[in-house]
Amino acid sequence: MTTLLDTREPVPAELDDSVELRSDTFTLPTPEMLEAAANAPLGDDVYGEDPTVIKLERLAANLLGKAAACLMPSGTMGNLAALLAHCRRGSKAIVGHESDLYVYEAGGASMCGGIVYDPLPNLPDGTISLEALEESLVVDRTDPQIAPPAVVSLETPQNRCGGIPLQLDYLAEVAQLTRAHGVALHLDGARIFNASVALGVMPAEIAFYADTVQVCLSKGLCAPIGSVLAGDRATIAQARRIRKMLGGGMRQAGMIAACGIVALSEMTGRLAEDHERAARLARGLSRIPGIRLDPGPPITNMVFFRVRDERYTTRSFITAAHRRGVRVEELGHGRIRAVTHANVTDVAIDRAVGVFADLLAPTGRPR
Ligand SMILES: Cc1ncc(COP(=O)(O)O)c(C=O)c1O
Repeated sequence: MTTLLDTREPVPAELDDSVELRSDTFTLPTPEMLEAAANAPLGDDVYGEDPTVIKLERLAANLLGKAAACLMPSGTMGNLAALLAHCRRGSKAIVGHESDLYVYEAGGASMCGGIVYDPLPNLPDGTISLEALEESLVVDRTDPQIAPPAVVSLETPQNRCGGIPLQLDYLAEVAQLTRAHGVALHLDGARIFNASVALGVMPAEIAFYADTVQVCLSKGLCAPIGSVLAGDRATIAQARRIRKMLGGGMRQAGMIAACGIVALSEMTGRLAEDHERAARLARGLSRIPGIRLDPGPPITNMVFFRVRDERYTTRSFITAAHRRGVRVEELGHGRIRAVTHANVTDVAIDRAVGVFADLLAPTGRPR
């Protein structure tokens, strides 16, 4: 019998067993997730009647120390729903210039909400300086010329700044500032569990400072689809309405939520392994002449590096590695990113290091 799978582009034989380091979004659902999805009690979630979605949302809200949570189809929609819930048309969302929300989410807040992005520089450690925040927050709200700020959005770990988690005392200072200026604090915690492992604190201790927090189930936690947005009841009720408006109201979404429950209850405990493998990869890379870690050794599951070798551009090096069965990607400013995750073993890491070393071996022509 022909199945859908049979109609996919065949994977070239030599790439069948590629080491996939482009992102932890490539993780596949675990057998437990597939079983949970197949057996999940279902209902219509737009009616609020899918018991598995309700269970996931309660679990997520508890883990994040918030009163309510809402299942979202993606992190992008979770972030967008949060910004639309916090901001009126013509108001300002203060964001990091390296944040996923600003760089990779298609300008959704402007497009859908008439919201002005106010991108402030992310410092190398992923923070935005308190002075810069204050400067953007202090406006004369009675001046009809001014777009008033409504939300500050931070990201942890800050992906394009090397996967660095924000420190709790920094979050506390920003929260103090946002409260003082009457604006909301949103946290893109797509990988908050990685931040929690790296900082040695509970996710709720991180989420505590934010009014809303978005957490992805579909990255290092291996669920195939989904994010949750958590916050107070009123804001989450508003975000639920916005989700419907954006086309994210899903019917028997319990099939997705069932995977999310496995993700939150069984997959967070293993993230330390990913961090150790990232460190293993970084150690291997730092021994290869022509590779420089940038910003330095990883703190979570992301390794960023530059290739300095006159035989390659960043792009041609990525292509050469791809031909040899190692997938990495450029992620801003000529740096290459390699992300460890549940489908990458120590053997795969060592193979990747071997391929990079071989490509940069002093033998003349690029391969
Ligand atoms: C930090 C961060 N936030 C948000 C997202 C968006 O998530 P999604 O791909 O589910 O829309 C990503 C995706 O990689 C991300 O890395």
